[in-house]
Amino acid sequence: MRILGLAAAILLTATAGGRGEVRRIRLCADPSNLPFSSQDTQEPGFEVEIARAIAEALGAELSVHWFPTAREILAFGQLYEGRCDLFMGLPLTERFAGDKPRLIFSIPYYVMRQVVVSSSLGAFRSLDELKSRLVGVQAMTIGDHMVYERGYNRKVYLSPEATFDALGRGEVDAVVLESPLAGWFVKKNPGFRATEINDPARDLKIGAGVRRDDRELKEAVDRAIRQLQSAKLPEILGRHGMTLAQAAPETAPLSSELRAARSTYLTQCSQCHGTDAKGTAAAANLRAFKGTEADFVRTVENGRPGTGMTPWKGLMSDEEIRAIARYIKQLSTDSDRQ
Ligand code: HEC
Repeated sequence: MRILGLAAAILLTATAGGRGEVRRIRLCADPSNLPFSSQDTQEPGFEVEIARAIAEALGAELSVHWFPTAREILAFGQLYEGRCDLFMGLPLTERFAGDKPRLIFSIPYYVMRQVVVSSSLGAFRSLDELKSRLVGVQAMTIGDHMVYERGYNRKVYLSPEATFDALGRGEVDAVVLESPLAGWFVKKNPGFRATEINDPARDLKIGAGVRRDDRELKEAVDRAIRQLQSAKLPEILGRHGMTLAQAAPETAPLSSELRAARSTYLTQCSQCHGTDAKGTAAAANLRAFKGTEADFVRTVENGRPGTGMTPWKGLMSDEEIRAIARYIKQLSTDSDRQ
């Protein structure tokens, strides 16, 4: 089930016990569609966690039946045939509901927004700032449409993963994607920042759907969502990075020299030293480098014999390496302020 390319659908089977009571809920979810759902018990995805919370609030038992949801017709077939009774992750729009007369919908449990993601250093904080930049988008999404509409330079990718990879490599200056995907990426990649685009017309309320004749379940789910609204839902969404975008602190804009250095760093160094320069299992934390700029240049030019750090002499100018050192320094200063 691809909704805006998100494949966010999850099915729940519920057994109604009469008088609005729901005793058993069988969750059907895509086994590998993070951040939405996953078979991995350590990281089940936020839709599964919310379904679990809904079941708990209703005092119902929850089990999960896994199946891929890439094809909308098959997924809704499960529901219509009575094998499942509830879908999570559906946009509550007239357009979406229009050709699904057999469904009724719950109240929303979150609002999906469009988000700008860029390197935390010199981060872009609105769509306007992306003018004259190169923006990565996923084909046929709301973000794609928004950037296209403004006539900004955009580079189109086929999946969210490909779009984020391009950002990681420095191939684009920023990307515009939906908040669940953006939040998840920023959560996993600390060198990047997400900022929600303030455009209420593009906000998408997300809710659950049930068969039209299953009003009892719809009402139970609505009750549970209301109950979870004040604490549990924000907690789950927050843990998945979906509220990170709302509190983006100011950072200084980046000079063109440092922008070039960022691009070099992201393409040549970050795979070992991390996108945030804090190091990985493969190599050292460069923010903790104690030497002077000259020491930095010498180290990079000569490499570290016997390690993955090969000499860069002849591949990069002194000036370029110095700029990388300054970029990393600025990265540290900026994030210390957060
Ligand atoms: C293939 C992996 C790899 C790549 C790519 C790489 N490095 Fe390294 N780097 C290392 C390893 C391994 C070390 C040795 C220190 C350690 O064990 O972490 C190191 C050490 C360093 C050090 C010394 C750190 C210290 O605290 O002593 C600096 C500075 C450095 N790298 C900068 C860079 C820069 C700048 C780039 C990109 C132009 C880069 N590295 C690319 C793997 C890599």
